[in-house]
Amino acid sequence: MKGKSKRSKFLSLIEKNPKIIRGVGEGAKILYLGAGAGTTLRFMLELIPHSHVYAVEIAPKPMRKLLSLFKGNERVIPVLEDANHPERYSGIVEKVDMIYQDVAQPNQAEIAIKNARYFLDRGLLIMMCKLKSIDFSAPRSKIVNEVRKELEEEFKIDEIIRLPYHKDHVCFVARRGYDEDSGA
Ligand SMILES: C[S@@+](CC[C@H](N)C(=O)[O-])C[C@H]1O[C@@H](n2cnc3c(N)ncnc32)[C@H](O)[C@@H]1O
Repeated sequence: MKGKSKRSKFLSLIEKNPKIIRGVGEGAKILYLGAGAGTTLRFMLELIPHSHVYAVEIAPKPMRKLLSLFKGNERVIPVLEDANHPERYSGIVEKVDMIYQDVAQPNQAEIAIKNARYFLDRGLLIMMCKLKSIDFSAPRSKIVNEVRKELEEEFKIDEIIRLPYHKDHVCFVARRGYDEDSGA
């Protein structure tokens, strides 16, 4: 997959730090918010074998492409919905082991928190945060700090990572539902 990380923030992250998804084992259930046309989803299915992915996408056009790309693939469950409203798809999506979010919206942290409360009792959040979608003019460090504080209401943040090729994004890697004292 070398060379493809310019197209996919997820691949860029895994190339930089492959350990991040080590805890997301074979057969994991994943909630993907902002699945787009499925470019990254293809890589994700390859890198996390036997995983099942609930692919939430709000826009019909990329969703049509995603549907044709994964037609007949039982590992992908497409959901044409707004990630601001997890209650609307709570009848379809089960509890998951990981949320991957790439929605490029001003309220990304809020979306992650809302979805985690429904679907992530214990597991990993990988959030690709588009800084300019949050505030076009504020300094990078200020935006990152604000997002970090908001996520800390619900998650323990492991890492905040800058990605090669995707300079306008910052990746938050966080966990929810782990016992702080035991480190488990
Ligand atoms: C940067 S693109 C995603 C690219 C895709 N993750 C990939 O790497 O192949 C962001 C996507 O998020 C979708 N999106 C934006 N707001 C959303 C929302 N509230 N709920 C679900 N999807 C949303 C957009 O329609 C767009 O397809």
